[in-house]
Amino acid sequence: MRSFVWHPYTQMGDWKKFDVISKGKGMWLYDTDGNSLMDSVASMWCNVWGHSNKELTKAMIKQTKTLQHSSLFNLTNDKAESLARELITLAPQMHKVFYSDDGSTAMEISAKMALQYWHNIDKKKTKFVSLENGYHGDTIGTMSLGYVPLFFSKFKSVLFPVLRTPSPNRYRMPKGYSYEDFQEHCIDSIEKIFVKNSDIAAFVMESGAQLAGGVVVYPKDFQKKVSKLCKKHDVLFILDEIATGFGRLGSMIEYQAQQSIPDIVSYGKMLSGGYLPLAATLANKKVYDSFLGEYKDMKHFFHGHTFTGNPLACATALSNISLYKKYNLIYKIKKRAAQMQSYIDTISGLKLVGDVRHKGMMMGIELVTDKSKKTPISPDKKIPQKIFTEAKKHGIYQRTLGNIIMIVPPLAISEQELDYMMRGIIKTIKNVTHLA
Ligand SMILES: Cc1ncc(COP(=O)(O)O)c(C=O)c1O
Repeated sequence: MRSFVWHPYTQMGDWKKFDVISKGKGMWLYDTDGNSLMDSVASMWCNVWGHSNKELTKAMIKQTKTLQHSSLFNLTNDKAESLARELITLAPQMHKVFYSDDGSTAMEISAKMALQYWHNIDKKKTKFVSLENGYHGDTIGTMSLGYVPLFFSKFKSVLFPVLRTPSPNRYRMPKGYSYEDFQEHCIDSIEKIFVKNSDIAAFVMESGAQLAGGVVVYPKDFQKKVSKLCKKHDVLFILDEIATGFGRLGSMIEYQAQQSIPDIVSYGKMLSGGYLPLAATLANKKVYDSFLGEYKDMKHFFHGHTFTGNPLACATALSNISLYKKYNLIYKIKKRAAQMQSYIDTISGLKLVGDVRHKGMMMGIELVTDKSKKTPISPDKKIPQKIFTEAKKHGIYQRTLGNIIMIVPPLAISEQELDYMMRGIIKTIKNVTHLA
């Protein structure tokens, strides 16, 4: 049957048909042809408990029966209130929660909040600085903040200028540096920009690691140093925990693990357990207070979405957070993370594997044609599609980031399930070697 769906980041001409997923249960997705696939990317990095979790679906059904949607314009609702309280309890350095629908909108909000903050306090600070290869979403504003050249060069003409500093990518750092020297260079580059420009509104980065821009796990103290530089130079520090918070890298609130303190921080993806679109941008008291004043001052935040604070999504997120506590998920993640780590040597030894980068429940496996030269595999080899097809043969749903295999399982995956997934990925890499 003809399909009218246009798929994201997909060369539609390469795909004759897409498997139709009709059911999800635990770590498994089931298609209409009767195949089962283990979800190795947590349905785009957001699923926490696996599919059809009883407690989450019960919370959703209960909320559906009482209030499906009511806006936060002039009104509030108990679920949006309770969730905001929970989030501020988890992140006590923050003061208020602004809701939106997805990671991109949450990051747009961060940027607008920062700009309006400086406007509200009558300071002319309008520039943004971010790390090279950061990723903060696909809207015009977030493509400007986090610029991945391969994805966004087509849209460059309409993106606003952002100053960029090098990211501490150990695998692909410029020649002539030791890793320690390169880290220092990255930090120095930030400080130089801060010193040279007195009109920097904010520094923006993913918290703990960059994912979509190539998987760069920050070295120890990197984020802490950036946080300190921002305070020293009166620059707002905006963190993006959309993909890396809520346990993905092993901590509920990643900025705490990094000993850094943002002024503004955003969550999405796993916030609702990965079941409903919901995101939240948290601001500290300094930022929030600048928006207070007389109505005529027009200092209030000029932003809002139809589904801001949607009670159904908030009820699901409340249930999700209660399950983290009930099942001590963060503790379990640490064990699963160690299990993932135990596979690194085997994976690194495979012919196609240039580098393995891992933290918590996230592993990026970069495939290359020549290990010693780190030569990227040419796009005409169509590696992403080959990996997808081969992984399916081993019962796994896999979506790569270009030539990087992403293992980003639902956080509550069991020991046996994770072994199945890791072994399937290893077999997949071995079997595509001759195709690369
Ligand atoms: C770090 C980060 N920020 C923002 C986003 C955008 O989120 P969304 O796809 O929900 O708009 C993503 C998505 O992968 C992300 O990884």
